[in-house]
Amino acid sequence: MNYVDGPVLGIETSCDETSVGVVAGSRVLANVVSSQAKLHQRWGGVVPEVAARAHAEAVLPCLAAALAEAGVELHDLVGIGGTNRPGLVGALSVGLSAAKALSFSLRIPFVGIHHLEAHILSAAMSGDCTFPHVCLLVSGGHTEIIFVHAPGEYEPLGGTVDDAAGEAFDKVARTLGLGYPGGPKIEEAATHGDARRYPMPRGLQDPTFNFSFSGLKTAIRLLAEREGDNLDRQSAAASFQAVVTSVLADRALYACKERDAKLVTVVGGVAANGELRRYMAASASRQGIRVLTPDRSLCTDNAAMVAHVAAWRLARGEKSDMNLDALSVAPLPRGVKA
Ligand code: KG4
Ligand code: ZN
Repeated sequence: MNYVDGPVLGIETSCDETSVGVVAGSRVLANVVSSQAKLHQRWGGVVPEVAARAHAEAVLPCLAAALAEAGVELHDLVGIGGTNRPGLVGALSVGLSAAKALSFSLRIPFVGIHHLEAHILSAAMSGDCTFPHVCLLVSGGHTEIIFVHAPGEYEPLGGTVDDAAGEAFDKVARTLGLGYPGGPKIEEAATHGDARRYPMPRGLQDPTFNFSFSGLKTAIRLLAEREGDNLDRQSAAASFQAVVTSVLADRALYACKERDAKLVTVVGGVAANGELRRYMAASASRQGIRVLTPDRSLCTDNAAMVAHVAAWRLARGEKSDMNLDALSVAPLPRGVKA
């Protein structure tokens, strides 16, 4: 990938992390993330109005912290990327307005960034990311297998027919009374449990590129109701995590086989999961497929990955207008049909 010369700022406010980052090409100079997880904890999920207000409070302090961490002044910046889609519109608008205001006052271009493209290309910040490859994108809102022909050219192969993987982690954690956000809580609980104790359904029949987690979610709920106080929550978490991670990895590797891809990337919040990373690494190496997984700080929502896509898009001469909207749903840019 080619990048514009000089530091690029990124702003990310699509969900419940306020983040401002600075990159020089694929190199991270700063990546400041202010998580709202504690704020949303009592509801067990993100409350849109609360998220938007918290972004408005956090965005300028995050900007100051990111510039200080990067050792960069505002006037050093050559461009700005702001996530404008998809996400919570109120939340997105805060970061997008900040990106526009900075762009206008500093007289530098800004470009609206697709949140999922930022996750997909985060793999290129973490090692030798060759194209084409298969990307397993697993986050709180999305679970997709994408054939990445080149930067900017994405062919969706399959995805979830119900919950996203991260959403399933969050809901199951709630059922098990483990707290929010569910992914890290389940991962922690699972380290003390036995993954074979409670057999769990794998959802859709293989082979497929799609996922369904609703049966698994129901199985956990029924298990919790049946066992009551006798439930071994740590083993329930381990059993759930083992099935989700193996299903995710097996289907992404099946896509590699079908499309003759030699590289699989695993990106998005759930890619921070240690069991998924271990299982994927072991299975892929048996099949002669290379795995690229970004550093954990680049897996969960962050603005460095947004700045990274901006640095590449700006180098192609792209820039967005001041009337660019925030969108709750949006297809991947320049999607390629099968
Ligand atoms: O990418 P992300 O930060 O935000 C979205 O774009 O959705 O992903 C957040 C999701 C949450 O559902 C969270 O529970 C999950 O990623 N997550 C994890 C882990 N860390 C975060 N899931 C499993 N294991 C983890 N260690
Ligand atoms: Zn995300």
